[in-house]
Amino acid sequence: MEALKTVSASTRFFAFSLWLLFASALLSLVHAKTHEHEFVCPIRPGRSFTYRFTIQGQEGTLWWHAHSSWLRATVYGALIIRPREGESYPFPTPKRETPILLGEWWDANPIDVVRQATRTGAAPNVSDAYTINGQPGDLYNCSSKDTVVVPIDASETNLLRVINAALNQPLFFTVANHKLTVVGADASYTKPFTTNVLMLGPGQTTDVLITGDQPPARYYLAARAYASANAPFDNTTTTAILQYKSAPCASKNCAASQPLMPRLPGFNDTNTVTAFSRSFRSPRKVEVPAEIDENLFFTVGLGLNRCPKNFKSNRCQGPNGTRFTASMNNVSFVLPNNISILQAFQQKIPGVFTSDFPANPPVQFDYTGNVSRSLWQPVPGTKGYRLKFGSRVQVVLQDTNIVTSENHPIHLHGYDFYIIAEGFGNFNPKTDSKNFNLVDPPLRNTVAVPSNGWAVIRFVADNPGAWIMHCHLDVHITWGLAMVFLVDNGVGELQSIETPPEDLPLC
Ligand SMILES: *[C@@H]1O[C@H](CO)[C@@H](O)[C@H](O)[C@H]1NC(C)=O
Ligand SMILES: *[C@@H]1O[C@H](CO)[C@@H](O)[C@H](O)[C@H]1NC(C)=O
Ligand SMILES: *[C@@H]1O[C@H](CO)[C@@H](O)[C@H](O)[C@H]1NC(C)=O
Ligand SMILES: *[C@@H]1O[C@H](CO)[C@@H](O)[C@H](O)[C@H]1NC(C)=O
Ligand SMILES: *[C@@H]1O[C@H](CO)[C@@H](O)[C@H](O)[C@H]1NC(C)=O
Ligand SMILES: *[C@@H]1O[C@H](CO)[C@@H](O)[C@H](O)[C@H]1NC(C)=O
Ligand SMILES: *[C@@H]1O[C@H](CO)[C@@H](O)[C@H](O)[C@H]1NC(C)=O
Ligand SMILES: *[C@@H]1O[C@H](CO)[C@@H](O)[C@H](O)[C@H]1NC(C)=O
Repeated sequence: MEALKTVSASTRFFAFSLWLLFASALLSLVHAKTHEHEFVCPIRPGRSFTYRFTIQGQEGTLWWHAHSSWLRATVYGALIIRPREGESYPFPTPKRETPILLGEWWDANPIDVVRQATRTGAAPNVSDAYTINGQPGDLYNCSSKDTVVVPIDASETNLLRVINAALNQPLFFTVANHKLTVVGADASYTKPFTTNVLMLGPGQTTDVLITGDQPPARYYLAARAYASANAPFDNTTTTAILQYKSAPCASKNCAASQPLMPRLPGFNDTNTVTAFSRSFRSPRKVEVPAEIDENLFFTVGLGLNRCPKNFKSNRCQGPNGTRFTASMNNVSFVLPNNISILQAFQQKIPGVFTSDFPANPPVQFDYTGNVSRSLWQPVPGTKGYRLKFGSRVQVVLQDTNIVTSENHPIHLHGYDFYIIAEGFGNFNPKTDSKNFNLVDPPLRNTVAVPSNGWAVIRFVADNPGAWIMHCHLDVHITWGLAMVFLVDNGVGELQSIETPPEDLPLC
């Protein structure tokens, strides 16, 4: 993380900048530029831009990534936040630290893959491999010579910073014969708990301690899909090797000794996922907003757009001649084609978005049951939900069974939030509110909403700006599974959107 030394904004501002990158991605197609407004654009090819931000209240592991089309398939890396100088971890200092970036790889240009899906309306091709720190590992053809080795020594305790950077796939992660002690997630510490297996949705990070308490040898670290949807998926397994420095083979020919392979959960093992995600707590009592000003209920899920008769059928290759889509509260998010939402919000440029994103589903139905076909087609829109500065917000995120239920990793830019409850079926405010954890819920930036279930999050809207909340399965963003919170300025400079940096890339 040498590059980090050259940058300084809060990580929130960092997310703000990424959002600009995202929102303005399409601007490059537009040559028009008015005299009143100069439009911000992504970093131009061959150019550079330096992000400046101050880290506040976050320690642990985050990651940076491109947010334009599917570019993050390859443009990503770890962003590690260590304790302040002179301060230490809330656990014994690990001997070694190793980032473990789980990636996803196509034997094709990923941009061609998403373009093909956008053209045909079908689901994009599934990937051909997963990777650990860029390498697929021994279980794929011809890749064993480049398998990543993670060092450990007998009796030492190391920190693995596991990041799911895969584009479209929640992943299980495990290490043969070793227990993992979870100590942090999404750059917040957690109350330590021990597990054999992790599940990370794309976007999520999990920091774990691992101790060299096994016979010195070679053990596989492995990751493969948690596939909760009724849909095709990449069922391959990526591996790296946990290698004891004192392993008999370390000095000789290691290739001769086969590492021990762990048992991975079944692809559809939702029980393991539930047990894992319900183990998360904050290390101590935290200040969760007890009263709420905004009580929101958002459905999240897929849909199918019917095609008009005589429509070019090669554009309607989704199920039964439809096109895949996705939505929150029946609004399928469409990016503006010219100006970023943040710029339009700050400079009051009309015609870019509307502020009428619904607080509740427009139609109530049995979200997780057999949903009537008449409800499957959402409405496209560029809608935001306006929040007053400082408002205390609760959002119930409810998965739907439209097309297929699925575990959706929902990520909110600009905020960490408390996950105060999760469950299956339809959220019931009367009975489920009784089980809210308002004492020590985990603080995260991405929640894996259970398949055919729900999760409840709370946060205080104290970071003004335009903040996208989206599913971190990138194919779902492409289909519209997103919305935007428009958070007003408070009082004074410290509670207002910062002026954009002078050197922000323009179109
Ligand atoms: C997607 O998969 C199909 C079938 O294997 C193949 O013909 C097509 O070329 C693939 N698309 C891309 C963009 O790789
Ligand atoms: C590896 O190569 C063999 C022989 O070409 C092929 O049959 C097999 O499907 C390949 N396996 C993978 C995982 O690509
Ligand atoms: C993965 O899917 C392929 C094709 O459907 C199947 O042949 C193979 O057995 C599956 N592998 C695993 C590990 O489930
Ligand atoms: C999980 O997959 C197994 C093997 O394919 C299947 O037998 C089982 O019914 C599935 N379970 C669920 C809950 O879908
Ligand atoms: C496609 O049509 C068939 C036959 O009408 C039906 O059984 C199936 O459920 C449909 N699939 C979807 C995803 O709509
Ligand atoms: C941006 O695009 C929208 C939708 O096409 C249009 O209504 C609006 O006038 C455009 N605004 C500017 C400033 O070009
Ligand atoms: C779902 O509802 C449709 C229409 O009411 C019905 O045709 C279908 O059999 C139902 N499917 C299941 C699995 O109950
Ligand atoms: C979404 O809106 C469309 C258009 O009004 C409607 O046909 C559909 O039933 C709605 N679906 C839901 C889930 O509200």
